[in-house]
Amino acid sequence: MPLMASRGASATMTIAGVGDPLSPQTGPLVLRIKELEEQHLAFRNSLICAFNQLLDLKDISTGVHSTRLAEWAIRVARKLNIPEEHMYQVEVAALLHDIGKIGVPDAILKKQGPLTSEERALINRHPEYSWSILRLFPGLEDASLYVLHHHENFDGTGYPARLKREDIPIVSRIVSVIDAYDAMVSNRCYRKGLPHTEAVRRLLESAGTQFDMEVVHTFIPIAEQEATEVFAAAGTSTSAAL
Ligand SMILES: [Fe+2]
Repeated sequence: MPLMASRGASATMTIAGVGDPLSPQTGPLVLRIKELEEQHLAFRNSLICAFNQLLDLKDISTGVHSTRLAEWAIRVARKLNIPEEHMYQVEVAALLHDIGKIGVPDAILKKQGPLTSEERALINRHPEYSWSILRLFPGLEDASLYVLHHHENFDGTGYPARLKREDIPIVSRIVSVIDAYDAMVSNRCYRKGLPHTEAVRRLLESAGTQFDMEVVHTFIPIAEQEATEVFAAAGTSTSAAL
């Protein structure tokens, strides 16, 4: 899993900044610092995985859902030339953007009928709740801002801050697109997921208003490829299944 794989790279990078070749005096100290850094990162990663598990238990998302979202987010981010050293924050934001839904009562979260304005207002607080959780993790300050803004709309009609266009962090714009696509194609207990082609049509329809057009056009080939692979693995033709 990329979250785990990123651990060693980050630690090595930080240690590399120490500079001089190891001497008999500094060697043990540097190695100890490296060991402590690795322990710290391992602990933080375990906490992130535990929170992801919590989302599963709360039935807010499935493990497959959040892992798939994280993979998509990283692929889109790379295509948009987001620096590689930032991928950890991208991955965490994609995995845990909805962690704040834990603060919304199940009766509202899983209500199948129309929501009252009060209920809708409470659900719309979840990005702030997500931010309030992630900001407590040292080193996840960027990721906490990305989750805070994952429901902003490109035209400024979203929430919580009604940010517009490039004022919305690019990672939040990425999470917004892939989360919407995933929600559209996923089956729920009360409805069947939309076909891939219809989900893509809706993304394109809202590109420039709800979504960042560049992100949508970057993501569609990735979703296209995934759909082809999924249906090939299932032994179905994409034309029939889509
Ligand atoms: Fe959300």
